[in-house]
Amino acid sequence: MQSLNKSELYRELAAALDGLLTNEPDFVANAANAAGAVFHALPDLNWAGFYFLHGAELVLGPYQGRPACTRIPVGKGVCGTAAAQRRSVLVPDVEAFPGHIACDVASRSELVVPLFDGEILLGVLDLDSPVVGRFDAHDQAGCETLARVIERILAMSLRARSEATPDGIASLRSQ
Ligand code: SME
Repeated sequence: MQSLNKSELYRELAAALDGLLTNEPDFVANAANAAGAVFHALPDLNWAGFYFLHGAELVLGPYQGRPACTRIPVGKGVCGTAAAQRRSVLVPDVEAFPGHIACDVASRSELVVPLFDGEILLGVLDLDSPVVGRFDAHDQAGCETLARVIERILAMSLRARSEATPDGIASLRSQ
């Protein structure tokens, strides 16, 4: 894909996510629709979804793809590395990433982008592809743009949830 086309694609997807999620306050509904929108908008993915931080672990959230491992310790695998380092991790070839956690054996490359509510780490957006080298710096920048839209809406959803059920989201925020 041309980088110009990629930047257009990510710009359009960011706008689509904003429209899809903005008027819905429910956290799970928004995370589920975000995973579905990303999975179907971006080519050559076999998995797209979320892990959310619960204490020292990332716990599987809404996603599209094959069933995945449910808990990843912070610092382990690609997702746990992104969470520990609070930065995106782009892995062109998962076989060359020591400690990569193989949930779907078809995955050959991976991009993980952390999600924040201000300084608080909420979790990560994880994209897997069956194609080696599927993700480049343009994808990383594009997915970081998507992450800024998604995290803003999820943070609002968390507030709506904690107002409705004061203890409901405490574990997500206890870090
Ligand atoms: N490969 C990830 C695990 C999650 S699955 O890809 C959905 C990792 O190494 O953290």
